[in-house]
Order: sequence, then C-alpha cells, then structure tokens
Amino acid sequence: MTLKNFAEEKLTIGIIGAGIMGRGIAQLAAMAGIEAIIHDIDPKIVADAAAFIRQMIDKAKEKGRLSDADAVRCKSCIRTTSTLSDLSGADMVIEAIVEKLEVKQAVFKEVESLVSPDCILATNTSSLSVTAIAAACARPGRMIGCHFFNPVPLMKLVEIIGGMQTDPAVIESVQALVTRLGHTPVRVKDAPGFLVNHLGRGMNTEGLRVLAEGVAAPHQVDEIMRECAGFRMGPFELMDLTALDVTCPVSEQVYAQYYQEPRLRPTPELRLRLSAGILGRKTGAGFYPYVKGEKILPEEPGVPPLPADARFWISPTVAGLAEQIRGLLQAANIGIDEGETPGVDSIAIVTPLGQDATTAILEEHIDPERTVAVDALFGGKGRITLMGSPATRRDVIDAAWAAFAAAGRKVTVIRDSAGLVAQRMVANIVNTACDIAQEGVAGPAEIDTAARLGLGYPEGPLAMGDRIGAGVILEILENMQMVYGDPRYRPCPWLRRRAMLGLSLLHEEQV
Ligand SMILES: NC(=O)c1ccc[n+]([C@@H]2O[C@H](COP(=O)([O-])OP(=O)(O)OC[C@H]3O[C@@H](n4cnc5c(N)ncnc54)[C@H](O)[C@@H]3O)[C@@H](O)[C@H]2O)c1
Repeated sequence: MTLKNFAEEKLTIGIIGAGIMGRGIAQLAAMAGIEAIIHDIDPKIVADAAAFIRQMIDKAKEKGRLSDADAVRCKSCIRTTSTLSDLSGADMVIEAIVEKLEVKQAVFKEVESLVSPDCILATNTSSLSVTAIAAACARPGRMIGCHFFNPVPLMKLVEIIGGMQTDPAVIESVQALVTRLGHTPVRVKDAPGFLVNHLGRGMNTEGLRVLAEGVAAPHQVDEIMRECAGFRMGPFELMDLTALDVTCPVSEQVYAQYYQEPRLRPTPELRLRLSAGILGRKTGAGFYPYVKGEKILPEEPGVPPLPADARFWISPTVAGLAEQIRGLLQAANIGIDEGETPGVDSIAIVTPLGQDATTAILEEHIDPERTVAVDALFGGKGRITLMGSPATRRDVIDAAWAAFAAAGRKVTVIRDSAGLVAQRMVANIVNTACDIAQEGVAGPAEIDTAARLGLGYPEGPLAMGDRIGAGVILEILENMQMVYGDPRYRPCPWLRRRAMLGLSLLHEEQV
C-alpha cells in the first residue's frame, strides 16, 4: 500500500453511520481541517448530523475556541452523501454503524469495490473482532479497529486495534491521524473487550461480587472507593451512568469470549436487573433511585454511643498498619490496652491484608466475639471500613464504630469479607491490568494511559499497584484465594514475578 502522510497531508475521510459515534468522529475531523464525508443509510440522519456538527462549531466559536475564519474553514470540511460511491476518493473510511458482524462485513465488501487499493478501512466496533470483520475483505491488511469513546470530542482516548493481518504501516498512519485529531492513540491487540472494556471488568465484577456476598450495599462500596481508594466513582455509580443495557452485554461477552475466565465473571444479578429494565440513571432507577436525574443516597447512619470503659487492644501482626490505628485512637484519647494479649474486657482490633476477619482472628488465637477488623491499608485518611466475624458481638462492633467516629472518622460497617472492600477491589483492578500486560493486549504504559483517559481512574492501575506495593497486592490476592478458593483471585504471573523481583509493575522485560 502507498499511504499518504496521515500526520500532515490533506486528507479526505468517509464516515459511514451518522449516529452518536459517527457524527462525533466527523466533528473531530472537520475541526482538525480534514474533509469528512458523512454517509448513513438514513438520509435524514445525515442531514441531522451535519446540522449538529455545524452547531458544535458555532458553539466553539462563541466560546472563543475558534476564530470566525476557522469556523468557516471547519464547516467547509463537512460534506454529506446518501450514495456510498461518493466515498470513492477517500483516504480512509471509518464505519460506525450497527454492531452486527454480517452487516459490517457487507458494508466493507461494498466499500472495498468503490475505493482505491490505498484507502484505509477502519471500524469503530466496541465488541466485534477486527480480524473477523476484515476476513470478509479482499485486502484484510488495510482493515483496522479505531475505537473512539462516547462522547467523542471529550473522550480523548482512541484504541488502535490491529487485526491478525493488519499492515503495520496502516497502524502507524492511523496513530498519526488520531494524534492529529488531538486525541491519544493506544495500540491494542485484537482481543475480547480490547483494552478498556476488559480492564473495566476488574472494578465492576468485583463490586458485583461484594454485593452478591452481601458484604456491603452499592452506596457503601461506592463511598469506600471514592473516599478511601481515591476513585472518582465507584462501580455502581459507574454502571448506573453507563446503563446496564451496555454494561451487561459487554460483561457477558468479554467473559464468554475469554472462555469463562473466572477473573472476568459477572454475577447473575446483572442480567436480572437488565430483564427488569432497572438500567441506571437514564431509566430513573438503577443501583440507586434517581429523582429528576439526581441520585438519592441513604442518610449516613447515626453513630452509636461510646461506652465509657471501652478499651482497645490492637494486634501488632501487620506492623505499620497497627501503628496507624493505634495513633488514630490515641490522638482521640481512646483507651488502649497495651497487654501482649487482649485483656478480658478489651476489644481486639486486627488489620488484615486480604484475609477476612474470621481467618485473621483464628490465626491470632483471639476471641472472635470481641474482635473487629479494620482496613488500615485504605484507612489512612478518609472513611474507616470496619467488619466483624459472624461471631462478633454487635455491641463490640458499635463500640469500635463509636471510637473511630470519636477520632473524627466516618465509618462503614460491612459484613465479613476477605480483602474488606477497597483491598479486594483495588487488588482485582491491578491484577486485571497485569493480566492484560501479560497477554500483550497492550503495553504497561498504554494500559495506565487508557485507564486514566478511558475509565477516568485517578492514576493507572499499574502505577497504583506500585504505589501500594506489588508485594502487598500479591499478599492480598493470595490470602483472598486462600479464603475463597476461587481461581478468580489467583495472582497473574506479571504481578507475581515483578513483586518477587522487586520490580515496577510498569517494567517490561527485554526480550
Ligand atoms: N455509543 C457508544 O457509546 C459507542 C462507543 C464506542 C463504540 N461504539 C460503536 O460504534 C458503532 C456505532 O454506534 P452508535 O452508538 O453511534 O450507534 P447509532 O445507533 O447511534 O448510529 C448508528 C448509525 O448507523 C446507521 N446505519 C445502520 N446500518 C447502516 C448501513 N448499513 N449503512 C449506513 N448506515 C447504517 C444507522 O442509521 C445509525 O444512524 C457501533 O459499532 C458501536 O458498537 C459505540
């Protein structure tokens, strides 16, 4: 193939499908001064899309982001057609039509008969294999996945997916084009869910597991993820925003396409909610109820009274974490039991990593009725997550809750759970990212970039794992796997090897 210089030369791009995504891509191209010819099966949608893009250009002008002359120039880049053959002169054709393999294959077959042999063919598919779409083409080497996110102008990430037969020069050209459009390209292998829709399963499916086990309610999981783990949104807020008619099929497809990989396993509640039409924010009911589009949260429960004689013994097992809890309670003048073992009237506090309260209590040979567990790893600043074993007395949990509240902390009381909430959620996110790196779906730096730009994470999961400590993440997962016996939590070799060798999770071996 003889390709133009996609970073600089004058280009014409054909866009097939002028729905949500197609019009966004056309807008981006026009605003970058690239001629965009918009086509749709429905001529009315083409006209709507062109009017919408002109409106967006006017808005940008009003906001001072475009000069009058630039606005005229951008508008002149938009062309429309109801005849596919008008795309014959295009340097690249991007398809954003219905998500059906046979329809996409048929459209590309027809396009191939119209355009020049040097025209790049790109699909915006989010769940179909690029290789499978290309299989219907006479020249599969020119087919590529160019996965934009919604809303296209705001979501700066584009996954560039090379199929089994994609020509490397095509990948280079499309990367250059995406950069020219002002977006960030990440190179991804043709794999189920590509990068972002695979990575996103780490948080969503673990949130669903926490719910299925009856450990915590959706709002409790979300507040822990925001206030303790530093995420902008927890899994249930995110699923309500995306809506279950998108999340449920994506979760099921990625799980099935990876041949029931336990790490990606959703829970039955997802499909049940979809069947009931409880889709999320857009239907006014999801994991949260909504009134006029606003999420309704349950009130923060009242803090129980702190018994005057309450004394706490803090297990020294996880040294740094125990000290942190001791300091917190001491600063609030809460009585501390300094004995080597808990006194008969003391409440014992354990700070497990990846274990549940039951396992930690039994390992330490302390009284299960008078022991609570605290997430000290994610309890440094914000909310404290507190849980008992099934044997722990309610008055003991309440006294511990009151003590942390007296120390100025909000408290979420959950049921016994290996890895509490934040530990298991974060460990699963990091493990999923490591798995993606191990399988070579994308490079480690690309994984972190995609998580920030595509999923809105505050930092990439591999950098997050490094900050917490790869060894700590490994310990959490190993202990979780011991408690649950579920291969879902088996640490990925990428994580295990780097943790054992003391290397960064972003480290790539030189092969
Ligand atoms: N909506 C998203 O959030 C999102 C994000 C990333 C990728 N995608 C992918 O982008 C593609 C389009 O999604 P969308 O949300 O824009 O859909 P949409 O329903 O908003 O738009 C699809 C458009 O394609 C047109 N169309 C259907 N068949 C056609 C054909 N044979 N020829 C020409 N036009 C045809 C329809 O008339 C419609 O206007 C899908 O492959 C989807 O998986 C969607």
